[in-house]
This record gives sequence, structure tokens and C-alpha cells, in this order.
Amino acid sequence: MSKIDFTGRVAIVTGAGAGLGRCHALEFAKRGAKVVINDLGGTRDGVGSSDAAANKVVEEIKALGGEAVPNYDNVATVEGGKGIVQTAIDAFGKVDILVNNAGILRDSAFHKLEEENWDAVVGVHLRGAYCVTKPAFINMRENGYGRIVMTTSGAGLFGNFGQANYSSAKAGVAGLANVLKLEGAKYNIKTNVLIPVAASRLTEDVLPPDLFAKLKPDLITPLVLYMCSEQCEDSGVMINAALGYFSRSAIMTGPGAILSDGEKIPTPEEIMESWDKIMSLENPKFFNQVFDMFGELGPLLS
Ligand code: NAI
Repeated sequence: MSKIDFTGRVAIVTGAGAGLGRCHALEFAKRGAKVVINDLGGTRDGVGSSDAAANKVVEEIKALGGEAVPNYDNVATVEGGKGIVQTAIDAFGKVDILVNNAGILRDSAFHKLEEENWDAVVGVHLRGAYCVTKPAFINMRENGYGRIVMTTSGAGLFGNFGQANYSSAKAGVAGLANVLKLEGAKYNIKTNVLIPVAASRLTEDVLPPDLFAKLKPDLITPLVLYMCSEQCEDSGVMINAALGYFSRSAIMTGPGAILSDGEKIPTPEEIMESWDKIMSLENPKFFNQVFDMFGELGPLLS
């Protein structure tokens, strides 16, 4: 088994001042990476800022003999994203690894969801992924190497009551990964997606206390390290992680039903009659990109 080593690699972890991001950053540093510890240091719902969270993790890494620099920018602004990437370039010359991890929550039932709470949550998670990843991606393209992790959530991929803003943003970052896997392929840039469940301040009032105590963020980090390693050849893959359980989730497409010769317009009643067949997920297929669907339309295209 080849050892995963980050000597000579430069990693950015956003929201690395606490929770999952802190764990990822510490482990990258222990395995030789130079790490940018970004954290705005605000509250759980994204109010205020402080240098303390990022500084503390930098000190922890230095105490272990590792290399790290702090950054206090807000991922949700274009200037913040550029500032985070510039911190890596100024301190260490490049960016090899980016873990988009920073996050906040402002839960609300959808019918009560205020615009400012939609904007704040989508701003940090989805806009933040754009703001930080774009300048990092440009540097990775120039260097012909990159590893990116998007942190999504089961809430976005499968659903969760009361998290419309968060779920929409988290589904969005999975969509961004679908495109970056294609646009980064030529440059050896792999973009993969983490679906974690872990104890942190984001989940402390969401999870039952006995479960909360068991869900250590350290149990998630090895997956992030593998996805950010040279050894990882996959891109655009989404992996669940909790308590040492790891599994792939994917959007799959069922065999479907052909209800036309390509000319005849099917009736809504024909759709209704074929509903079971249309709904079937038997022998599903994975489409690597949207045009793969045309492969299923063979008889209709000839
Ligand atoms: P956490 O609250 O411990 O860590 C998030 C960090 O992001 C905080 O230190 C915070 O200061 C920082 N941050 C927030 N807004 C920022 C901004 N605009 N710019 C820079 N830094 C900012 O929470 P946790 O659980 O470690 O979350 C990490 C990521 O994992 C988040 O994206 C979260 O949505 C995601 N996630 C977590 C799950 C869990 O079970 N803990 C489940 C699914 C997803």
C-alpha cells in the first residue's frame, strides 16, 4: 500500500478554525502539507468575526512541528476568496489542495424563511465555493495539478425538514463539482464531494446527545485526505462518511420507457399508464455528463 504523503503540497482549508475543518487541517499538516487555516471566526449563524479560531489552529499545528498560516477572510465574497488563495501563494507559492468546508446554519421552515437567511446561507456555502474555488482553480490549472473537496450534506442530496436554504446551497456545491470534474480533467484537477455527519457546533442541537458524543469529526478526515491525495484518481464522486462508515452516493438513471417514435407526442394518459416503468430504478446507469443521456435515445435518433 503506498503511503499518502503531502510533503511539498500546499492545502487551503476554509472554516478550519473548528469542527471538521480543524481536523482536516491538522491531519494535512501532520502528513507534511503546508496549510492555510482560513476562518472568519463568526457565530454559528454567521454573525461577527474574530481572528482567534484560525490563530488557535495555526498554533496547534506549529506545536506539532507543522507549517501553517492563518487567514481571516470571508469565503462569501470575491475579495475574500482571492485573499485566501493569495495567502497561500504569498506564504507557500501555490495551491495544490482546497477543501471547501466553511459553513453556517440559519434553519427555518420554508414558509417562514426570510430573504436575509436565504442569502446568508447560500452566500457562505454556494457563493463561498465559487469565490474561493475560482482563484484556486486558476492556480491549479497553471500548475497542472489540483485536488478539491466540496463539503455537501445529506440535507441537500436527500432532504431535511427546515433546511431549505442550506439544502439548496449544499446541492449546488455538488453541481459545481460535476462541472469542475470535467473542466479540471485535462489539468489533473480532481474534484470530489464529502457528505459528512459529525459532532460540531452546527449539529449539537440537531443530533441526540448519545449519538453526538460518538460522531467524532476525526472519523471523517481520512476520507478527505485520500480524496486530496495524488493517489486518488476519481473525480466527481460523492462519498458519505460517519462513524467510520463510508459509501458512495450517486445520481443514477433508470432504464425508462420509450413512448414515441421521436415524432408522435405521447399523451399524459400514456405517461400515467407507463408511470411504473418511468419510475423504475432497476439496473440504473450513471451519466458522467449530461450528453451521456443521448446514448439511451438510440432508437429515437436513428
Ligand atoms: P463548524 O461550525 O464547527 O465549522 C465551520 C467553520 O466555518 C467555523 O469555524 C466558522 O467560523 C467557519 N465559517 C463560517 N462562515 C465562514 C465564512 N463566511 N468564511 C470563513 N469561515 C467561515 O461546523 P462543521 O460541522 O465542522 O461544518 C463544516 C462543514 O461541514 C460545513 O460546510 C457544514 O455545512 C458541513 N457539514 C457538516 C455536517 C456535520 O454533521 N457536522 C453534516 C453535513 C455537512
